[in-house]
Amino acid sequence: MWELAGKVLVAAVAARSSWVVGKGLYTSYLGSWFGRSVKVKQLGRWAVITGATDGIGKAYAFEMARNNLNVVLISRSEERLRNVADEIASKYNVKAKTIQADFTERNIYNRIEDEISNLEIGVLVNNVGMTYDYPKEFTEVSEKLILDLFHCNILSVTMMTKIVLEKMQKRNKGLIVTLSSMGCLVPMPYLTLYGALKAYIVFFTKSLANENRSNNVIIQCHVPALVATKFSGFTKPNILVPTPMESVQSSMRTADIPVLIYRTMWFHVASQKTEVTLYLATVANFLNKWISESIMNTFANSFFGSFRSKAIARNKKMAKRETRVQQE
Ligand SMILES: NC(=O)c1ccc[n+]([C@@H]2O[C@H](COP(=O)([O-])OP(=O)(O)OC[C@H]3O[C@@H](n4cnc5c(N)ncnc54)[C@H](OP(=O)(O)O)[C@@H]3O)[C@@H](O)[C@H]2O)c1
Repeated sequence: MWELAGKVLVAAVAARSSWVVGKGLYTSYLGSWFGRSVKVKQLGRWAVITGATDGIGKAYAFEMARNNLNVVLISRSEERLRNVADEIASKYNVKAKTIQADFTERNIYNRIEDEISNLEIGVLVNNVGMTYDYPKEFTEVSEKLILDLFHCNILSVTMMTKIVLEKMQKRNKGLIVTLSSMGCLVPMPYLTLYGALKAYIVFFTKSLANENRSNNVIIQCHVPALVATKFSGFTKPNILVPTPMESVQSSMRTADIPVLIYRTMWFHVASQKTEVTLYLATVANFLNKWISESIMNTFANSFFGSFRSKAIARNKKMAKRETRVQQE
């Protein structure tokens, strides 16, 4: 009796493990080898990218241009927009249009809509996002910062999607990418609003993807862990932290299959590197699925708590230094 139960358990774990590993391999590698990733060039002539002058947004802009799409870049700094647009236009021989806009403001959407209304938009990348200057308790977050976070992180995604989706539906093709974060999966104490708003993006994307099942508009959420950008504070990539382009290309490779594209730790790097990391990738994916929530909670509290303590100590040191300079 016990022997049989043991055998059933082992078989169930083996079957589940094979399913998870097989699915991970298919999603990240085999799917694209079988031509299952999105061919963005076939979706329209233009790609619109928010937060496009740096980090992940800039990598998306280059990736779209590499696929022969013209690009619309939206960010705050006119000068950086011009520089990135020139770089893209000269490297890929495509058109690069720029729109200067600050997504913490809510009255920008009529102007953006006017500026892109005549373009055949195949791809929208809702990339722009912001967080606190350092981890804070919720009660320390100012009203202005709360509104900025809501506007920049979720109103932007909602309104930009509203602007382009109807036309995509009429043309019966298109791709809308949203950017969430692993922070939507585990609690983010001291970055509470950031994690909660990223969870909105996942839920928004999942629901909208279902709503659009009957047409050919693909709606997907890219869910990275750490990526080497100014935003994350990791200036150099390493085995756990990919470059923005690695993260974007591995996400694009899985494009037409899942609604949520998780890219964490070795997994994203694995899709570009050696057989060894391929193996690690499948193990990492397996652990991701099986890790217990209480372990994740303990980890989150200690990780973000120490991140906050360090930031507070650094801020105190800087304030002291400033006072000393003023007194001298
Ligand atoms: N990096 C990571 O580890 C990581 C992990 C998970 C998720 N993400 C998500 O990925 C997205 C991009 O992050 P990133 O790391 O690439 O950031 P980044 O390197 O700091 O780049 C941010 C881009 O957005 C623009 N931007 C910032 N605030 C803006 C505003 N209020 N209005 C208009 N444009 C604005 C910036 O240009 P200007 O300053 O010129 O406006 C820049 O082009 C975010 O949604 C973030 O939450 C990042």
